[in-house]
Formats: sequence, structure tokens, C-alpha cells
Amino acid sequence: MTKLTAPIGVFDSGVGGISTLQTLAKTLPQEDFIFYGDSKNAPYGEKSAATVTDLSKQVVEQLRAHAVKAIVIACNTATSAAKPALITAYPDLPILGIEPALKEAVDAGKQHILVMATPLTLSRPKYLAQRNRFSDQAMIQSLPCPGLADLIEGGEAQLPAIRRLLTKLLTPLSDRPIDAVVLGCTHYPFIEGLIRERFAAGTAFYTGYSGIAANLKQTLQRQQLLRTDAHQQTVSFYSSNETCAEIKLYQHLFEHGIELD
Ligand code: DGL
Repeated sequence: MTKLTAPIGVFDSGVGGISTLQTLAKTLPQEDFIFYGDSKNAPYGEKSAATVTDLSKQVVEQLRAHAVKAIVIACNTATSAAKPALITAYPDLPILGIEPALKEAVDAGKQHILVMATPLTLSRPKYLAQRNRFSDQAMIQSLPCPGLADLIEGGEAQLPAIRRLLTKLLTPLSDRPIDAVVLGCTHYPFIEGLIRERFAAGTAFYTGYSGIAANLKQTLQRQQLLRTDAHQQTVSFYSSNETCAEIKLYQHLFEHGIELD
């Protein structure tokens, strides 16, 4: 296999990255993708940055075994904790990472922005610098959501517990004039419908997917790694939880998402 036709590796702590993968696969229909979910070690968002960096390196090794031509960190937490270390460790491999789409919300003129993400993402210097950069343009409220990604990892069976946790997290904010919500964890878009119900109609939601997809396309183009041949895309799934049920769950989420009703 030449490098041009090699697949793109995408990873997350678990199922969350599959929501990012849906956009990447649609945006680049000629590319093959390999998704790796580290579900055995999820959630990352309540671990230390050093642990998340070690786990991310192990996942990159798994993806390199498939000779991937680029890697997308489809996990805000792993991006904020591990991306610089991964770039240093693998200088020849293009490595991109998703980040909370705060800039997108500010650029759209939003004035009262709520950023929902894991405790680790929101405590990292990368996010704090981003928030400071925009603090004179909008009121930015950061909301750590411990436990939420872990519940979403459990799929539809966890919906009642997810609803209870959202009530606990969001009720204290119900009198705030929020006009934009940044979903700064790739697990959360699976329950975007449930989160939307808690805000006024017209509240804008941002995931950062179009940004990372455009960035990936540009990076591949620049490095002459973008496929342009007529090729039927393949998407393969791997997990550190090596069970058939886990891979089936990944495929189901890729094709249908979480059924909220
Ligand atoms: N989906 C991940 C993120 O975007 C992490 C969730 C977790 O493992 O805590 O931050």
C-alpha cells in the first residue's frame, strides 16, 4: 500500500470520537478510516494529564500498526493533555486534535457562551489561554461535567441517569442568558437533543467538527496525501475492550447515533 492510499487513524477515550468520525468520513469520502476507542480506559477527563498522555501514546502505537498516514485526536481531553507530546514523539506523522469550538462561537457574535467539557480539558493551560483570549468579546462560562462522558459511554441504557445528571449540572444555570453552547467533549453531541431541551429555542450549538474536518483536508492536501481516486470508503473499528459487543456498539453509533426517545 502506498502512503497516499493508507487509512487515517481517529481515536478517542471511547465512543465519543465516533461523532467526529461521522463528519470526517462525510467530508473526505474517498479516504479510509480506522477508529480506535480506548473504552477500557475511559473516561480520560477525570484522569491526570500524564496518564492521558501515556494512554494516548499507546493508542497511537495501535494505529501505527495499521500504517495510518495521519491521526485525528477526536477527543478534546486528549488534545489538551497529549497533543504536544504526541507531535514530539511522532514528528513524521501529521497529528491533529479537536478543541472546544469557542472561537467559532465568538466569531459568530455570541455574547453569553457556555462551554461544557471534561474537568481535565477545562483545567488545561490550552483552554485557559483560549478563554482569556476571548474574554473581552463575550461572557464565557466553563462547566466541567464529571461523569457525563462515562454515562454516554454506556449508550441508550444510561439515558435516565444522563437526564438526572443534566438536571443537576444545568439547573443552576437556568436563569443565565446563554445564547451559545460549546460541546467541548466529543461524547456530548450524541445527547445534543437532550441538552438543547434545557436551553431557549434559538440557542446555538458548536461542536468543532467542521473545523477539524477542514483542517484535516488542508493538511492532507498540503502534504500531497489527499486521495482523489474513485474509491469506495472503508471505516473499521477497534477497541481496547476487545469484545464483539463493543465493536457492534461503535458501528451502531456510527450509523445511527444514540436514540433519544
Ligand atoms: N470524548 C472525550 C473528549 O472529547 C473525553 C471523554 C472522557 O473520556 O472523559 O473530551
